[in-house]
Amino acid sequence: MSILRVTKYGESILRQKLKPVDYKELAPKLPQLLKDMEETCLAVRGVGLAANQIGLDYRMALILIPESDEENAPLKRYVIINPKILSMRGEKIEEEGCLSLPGLWAEVKRATDVTIQYIDENGVEQVKRARGLLAKAFQHEVDHLDGKLFIDLLDPTLKPEIKKAIKKLRSKWN
Ligand code: CO
Repeated sequence: MSILRVTKYGESILRQKLKPVDYKELAPKLPQLLKDMEETCLAVRGVGLAANQIGLDYRMALILIPESDEENAPLKRYVIINPKILSMRGEKIEEEGCLSLPGLWAEVKRATDVTIQYIDENGVEQVKRARGLLAKAFQHEVDHLDGKLFIDLLDPTLKPEIKKAIKKLRSKWN
């Protein structure tokens, strides 16, 4: 197992709209890939990690999320391959960050209730309705796979401020 380097804002792969992958082609690589992605996600205390955040152009992401609201609840893993958001409902503004923009946090408007379709790690098609943190994670990760970052969702008037903040943070990124 290994902890992988997470790509950072400014690297072109984060701006790529990733094409769907062929599950059968991906399957042999999947066990090792998921181990590495999970280890990386845990090491940097992330909620999710998209393939382009580790430099791969697969349309897939991993999400690690507490099973319940209880303290120290075990983490549940979602592997979403070729995900597609089928519907979005509700609206909530909440603070959000991203492993590819470490140190930056901003209030982002997201849907509170989403239905997503994807292929899971066993190659089975799933349709899942999610609320709360999981709904937010699904949207954030699907955005990554479409080449979008959470800062794209901010009010354009905040852009100069965000640019400045990124300039400052960048020197600390690896
Ligand atoms: Co992110």
